[in-house]
Amino acid sequence: PLTVKSLYEQVHHARHGPISIDGWIKSIRLLKRIAFLDLQDGTSVNPLRIVVPLISNDDVQFLKNLKTGQTLSISNAIWQDTNNREQPFELQIKNPAESIKLIGPVSENYPLQKKFQTLPYLRSLPTLKYRTSYLSAILRLRSFVESQFMLYFQANHFTKVSPPILTSNDCEGAGELFQVSTNQALNSSSYFGKPTYLTVSTQLHLEILSLSLSRCWTLSPCFRAEKSDTPRHLSEFWMLEVEMCFINSIHELTSFVEATIKQIISACVDNQSELLPKQFVSLQEDDTSSTLSVDQEKQQIERRWQNLVNKKWQTIAYTQAIDILKKHHNEVRHFKYEPTWGQPLQTEHEKFLAGEYFKSPVFVTDYPRACKAFYMKQNSTPDDTVACFDLLVPEMGEIVGGSLREDNYDKLCKEMKERGMNKSGELDWYVSLRKEGGAPHGGFGLGFERFVSYLYGNHNIRDAIPFHRTSAGTID
Ligand code: 4AD
Ligand code: MG
Repeated sequence: PLTVKSLYEQVHHARHGPISIDGWIKSIRLLKRIAFLDLQDGTSVNPLRIVVPLISNDDVQFLKNLKTGQTLSISNAIWQDTNNREQPFELQIKNPAESIKLIGPVSENYPLQKKFQTLPYLRSLPTLKYRTSYLSAILRLRSFVESQFMLYFQANHFTKVSPPILTSNDCEGAGELFQVSTNQALNSSSYFGKPTYLTVSTQLHLEILSLSLSRCWTLSPCFRAEKSDTPRHLSEFWMLEVEMCFINSIHELTSFVEATIKQIISACVDNQSELLPKQFVSLQEDDTSSTLSVDQEKQQIERRWQNLVNKKWQTIAYTQAIDILKKHHNEVRHFKYEPTWGQPLQTEHEKFLAGEYFKSPVFVTDYPRACKAFYMKQNSTPDDTVACFDLLVPEMGEIVGGSLREDNYDKLCKEMKERGMNKSGELDWYVSLRKEGGAPHGGFGLGFERFVSYLYGNHNIRDAIPFHRTSAGTID
């Protein structure tokens, strides 16, 4: 069967015979002698314009009965070129009662009428919201971005791997695990009586695989028992993780991250007309409609993408970042949390650095050992920092976290011991390769929803994943 997108792809090709196509009514407008029916099928940002001349009273009656949201099967439609750039073609239907078949009804109060809708309202319609132009476009963007990563990694000699979701480790050591089973209850719902969790990050398994494959990546669901009910946190999210062997400096890693992300955004720029929606709902989180026109909204996103690709991103060490934050805190405006060396950066700090201070994505490197995970490689400097980075972007804060991994067996064991880890040898499998052909290696994890949401400019990652899971809200 044809899709709406396939029709748009054929715009510059030869004439068609009668066309059949299915979709949902996006809008319908009846004039005196003619009706305009906009059909969408979710494959394109562009709706399909169908023109129906109203010849008899029966035609008028038939069209009056059609409603926004109904599912139609159209046949015998004839292609017509137009001189309109926005709408380069339309389909014409002569005999509506015969050519238009209603295959799915709608209720009286179908909520997606043609009117202004806010994002909070659309989020309350989980089964329907992706029929809007604005929200369906973000899922298509996500799908596009995923395919571009695939191409990029393939071209750069990475193997895509599928590490496990069920695991016994807490990779990040933050205690945000969802437990699947304990070692006590041996019943049908537990995992064979073994302490088991949903993975928070596949990194430890990726490290092992990279010590065989050199370069590997995955895009995997990750789970965190985050209590934070914020626009940046999900309890089930997708992380793109990369692990590379024979990496010796954080700079090699951040350069790779920058090149990779720029390549993906560059592909978005090349395909922007297909990726950006024709309609924007309010980008604000309240009930006010956006003051920008559709064209202005689009231009804003296009400009953001261009800037991200063309400008050099910033890099700064954590210690310098703290100095900048402290100065701002003391001289300009108090943060809610006072910036303090040794503490993790708060979201407000991250947004300030990337958004207000640098106005650019910024890599913050070399955090104190105590505020990062156990596996990070210790710097040889006396300041007790580790070779790591977070990539911060304006309006969102952290979207990527990565590091070199401690590849010295003794140092790694010592660090784990200090943190009370591996008491019964449960992570021996992980440390073992430091003694069996170990190699300097490193990698990173990119929060997929955060990335897509940032690119799209909406900044609430709940829109970038169908059926979001958070501590607030019900589960379907
Ligand atoms: O910074 P994180 O915790 O790093 C890791 O898990 C490393 N093991 C990754 C690695 O080196 N292979 O998480 C990485 C990214 C964050 O920067 C953030 O974008 C995203 O994952 N993330 C979340 N996204 C949505 N909801 C949450 N609750 C998230 N927690 C982390
Ligand atoms: Mg992090």
